[in-house]
Amino acid sequence: MDLAATVYRPPRAKTPWRLEELFSPSVIRFHACGRRALADALRLAGAAGQRVLLPSFICRDLLAAVAAAGAEPAFYEVRPDLSADEDQTLWPEARAVLAVDYFGFASNLSPFQAYARRCGAVVIEDAAHALFSRDAGGRLLGTRAPLGILSLRKSLPLPNGGALLANDPALAARLPPPLPYAPSKGRRFVLKAAARPLLALAGAAGAHAGLSALRALRGDSSGYVAPDPASERVLPEPAEPCVQLKRPLACADPAIEASRRRALWALCDKIARRAGLAPVFAELPQGTVPYAYAFRGSLDSARPLFAAEGLTVLPWPDLPAALASSAPEHHRNVALVHFLW
Ligand SMILES: Cc1ncc(COP(=O)(O)O)c(C=O)c1O
Repeated sequence: MDLAATVYRPPRAKTPWRLEELFSPSVIRFHACGRRALADALRLAGAAGQRVLLPSFICRDLLAAVAAAGAEPAFYEVRPDLSADEDQTLWPEARAVLAVDYFGFASNLSPFQAYARRCGAVVIEDAAHALFSRDAGGRLLGTRAPLGILSLRKSLPLPNGGALLANDPALAARLPPPLPYAPSKGRRFVLKAAARPLLALAGAAGAHAGLSALRALRGDSSGYVAPDPASERVLPEPAEPCVQLKRPLACADPAIEASRRRALWALCDKIARRAGLAPVFAELPQGTVPYAYAFRGSLDSARPLFAAEGLTVLPWPDLPAALASSAPEHHRNVALVHFLW
């Protein structure tokens, strides 16, 4: 099987494993998505009625988590290399601040820690893109701040899944009880699960061509669907995590998944550099398990190059409405090659 076909069917784990064990001693609470985990993280941080500081380079739908926690968003600057503006003394005061590990790459937490010391904010590490990724010191992303969040559904072939990580024992002691698990009724997931073996058999280019034809019939040939503006205010349903998260997981293996995603990143980097596209991150540090390949450049010229390998390219992010019209160019020209269908 060629590498890109694993986008349609990642190898299964021979030995089922548990997220609770991987992230121990952090305490996990499962949710249906990362936004719901973030809403609970903000409540735990005491953000209700207060300000929450987010990066200005972010998906608009994250704002729904801030609204659900009864908080107000404010923003700090993000530079072209996706690091936070290090002069945290310029950041507005807030009760909680979000540090994002973009696309699985470890963020530098120093300015966030300095900010927390200065104004007493709780740092939340957003590792929604960073399942299995580690920093230079070998620490799992999502565990490096008092609270962390994961979006499991983005990196594992599951109907849904998000997680809140309480890394600080005092915060862990105040976690709400776990949500019940619920069988997923997602039609999309059932169809995908049925299609996966067929798409993997069709080979990378065949699978991509078949999916593109289906999307063209639906009228969204690029696969990109703009989110509903209500996504800034309302969290998606359901809230409960899928029942698959209750048992040990076999749908992907952490070690195989890490090498699969690193190999896909290297393949995409070769394609991008040959075509003169600019990678957002020039190198893949040891321990980084990328969620996608991020680059800057023309989407129209990049799409066919990656499609030939069976890979889909989408713009990222859908910026919050309040920021979109004044966003700098380096917040508007990023695209991602996805590693999971
Ligand atoms: C950086 C980041 N954090 C959190 C989330 C939320 O994850 P989910 O879509 O599972 O709610 C997203 C998803 O859009 C994201 O891009």
